[in-house]
Amino acid sequence: MKDIDTRHLSWDDWDELRRPAPETTDFDKVVAAAMSRRGFMTGVLAFGSAATALNLMGSTSAQAQSASRFAFQPIDIQTDFTIHVPEGYDWGVLVSWGDPLFSDAAPWDPTNGGDAATADRVFGENTDGMELFEVDGKQVIAVNHEYVNEDINLPAAAGESTSIVDSAEDAMKLMNLQGVTVMEVAETDTGWGVVVDSPFNRRITNNTPMTLTGPAAGHALLQTTADPAGTTVLGTLNNCGAGKTLWGTYLTCEENFNGYFGATDAATTMPDGFDRYGIGAESRYAYEQFNPRFDITKEPNEANRFGYIVEIDPADPDSTPIKRTALGRFKHENAAMTLTTDNRVVVYLGDDERGEFLYRYVSNGTYTEGGDTSALLDDGTLYVAKFEADGSGQWLALTPETTGMDDLAMVCIHTRQAASAVGATTMDRPEWVAVSTTLPEAYCCLTNNSKRAEDAVNAGGDAMLAEDGTPNPRAGNEYGQIVRWRPTNTDHGADTFAWDLYVMAGNPDVHDDAYAGSANVTSGNMFNSPDGMVVDSNGMIWIQTDGDDSNEGEFAGMGNNQMLVGDPETGEIARFLTGPNGSEVTGLTWSTDKKTAFVGIQHPGGDFPNASPVPRSSVVWVRRQDGAVIG
Ligand code: FEO
Ligand code: CA
Ligand code: CA
Ligand code: CA
Repeated sequence: MKDIDTRHLSWDDWDELRRPAPETTDFDKVVAAAMSRRGFMTGVLAFGSAATALNLMGSTSAQAQSASRFAFQPIDIQTDFTIHVPEGYDWGVLVSWGDPLFSDAAPWDPTNGGDAATADRVFGENTDGMELFEVDGKQVIAVNHEYVNEDINLPAAAGESTSIVDSAEDAMKLMNLQGVTVMEVAETDTGWGVVVDSPFNRRITNNTPMTLTGPAAGHALLQTTADPAGTTVLGTLNNCGAGKTLWGTYLTCEENFNGYFGATDAATTMPDGFDRYGIGAESRYAYEQFNPRFDITKEPNEANRFGYIVEIDPADPDSTPIKRTALGRFKHENAAMTLTTDNRVVVYLGDDERGEFLYRYVSNGTYTEGGDTSALLDDGTLYVAKFEADGSGQWLALTPETTGMDDLAMVCIHTRQAASAVGATTMDRPEWVAVSTTLPEAYCCLTNNSKRAEDAVNAGGDAMLAEDGTPNPRAGNEYGQIVRWRPTNTDHGADTFAWDLYVMAGNPDVHDDAYAGSANVTSGNMFNSPDGMVVDSNGMIWIQTDGDDSNEGEFAGMGNNQMLVGDPETGEIARFLTGPNGSEVTGLTWSTDKKTAFVGIQHPGGDFPNASPVPRSSVVWVRRQDGAVIG
């Protein structure tokens, strides 16, 4: 790995280098080994107790017969370095990495990758999940900054010879460009902008003090030199997807936290459990060289304090963020909240790594509007999903009894191991989870899993078989799929559900088997690697992609990463937006009047936005020219 320049790598690719899995068989062979497209459809027909209008075969005919619920004309693929939206819509930039949130921050300067001294006073790097809140009549967006790109943020032009972290100042700059931004936004005649110096503006970074609560708080494995009580931690790491609570707070989700820790002594023995999480002696940003709390040799427990869901109150800039350990420790993608029929809180959660799992948290207490919500995310039960080939599924409780672990704290610290112990289903990288706003069902993007094969295992040794009729049916799955489940008796608190695949992405121009995708994938709406996902107020599913945008070979005809809209009732999927080449489209929220959609553009290529000297991750706004609502 040392011989490879990692400064351009995505986190997925970096993790892949860190954890090389056995090579899969050659592509032709795995294609032949997968079930036929026809066979898969037959399996889907088993959804629920009978074939219904929801099955994918039915989708095509329903689509032809029913009036479309799409309010836009779908757009073609693109391969350029800008954004495209349907006719009748406009877009513009809300904010880009480096834009000041406060007037005391240095203005954006492309020659130095942004001012190091005020990196925690500007909009951070690599925008990801976000949510908009109405606070005192103002519109406030909380948005994640997932990671940094050393070659852009520490440019050689600023006197850096290497664009690598080789000083404490470099490390601090990168720490301050990550985390979360909370910012007030306002609409003008020409678009939308940040309200600089708003009292709501705030940066939360890799160093912001936060509180640990829930079963793992105070556990011996969470105690460090600086925090012998194990209840106070500095910072949040690799903030990926997001969520919103029913009581108006923001949930930010710590994903690839493993890569932030390293060992200054290469002979350091890794503590139990580190291997399952991919924590090793080599880090990505060399924080451990300049800050001992990231050094596994000196502080072996610090890494146990990351990998959680963090709750932030966007209405109170002085509030302390809270890490909710009851929601488990893994590579959290996002968090989707809903209620059981008896008003207990449900949070669906995905663990984005090959062969990891889909989770559900259910609180013990019930939610009442205006009531005390402080313990709802501390006191409850975590479950993991097991999918059966007959279209049924179960939520398996993770408790000391079911897992054989000593106590609930260990379940919340070594959650992956707990889920393996109960026999959960290994998934094709669970990314965003979303709960329908109109139907008793929920969805999870399973982005891809190039390593799924008959002889493959996840990091815990659990088999990653490619089995016909399962939610992860394809070996060498480069395209991804979206699984849908309907809880028994329409109660998200039920421990059983029925499932099907809403869509299986694929390329019908290149393949005529399972890799062509499901029937609702056509030459006109092809995409790969569904990742971000939000359901709007009409129940339509907005799907964002983070895949191969080469537009060649297996991916020919798919173009740049994109945002599509899916109708869960007909199966129809239509392309709404294309991002700049090189970018991932991730993060979506709406203005309070639903007339503007805000969309995240992460790690763009070229000169996005607006002929910038270096590409800048940005949040853009999209409006209809006639002022009608979107979503
Ligand atoms: Fe940060 Fe799994 O996406
Ligand atoms: Ca440097
Ligand atoms: Ca993602
Ligand atoms: Ca992804």
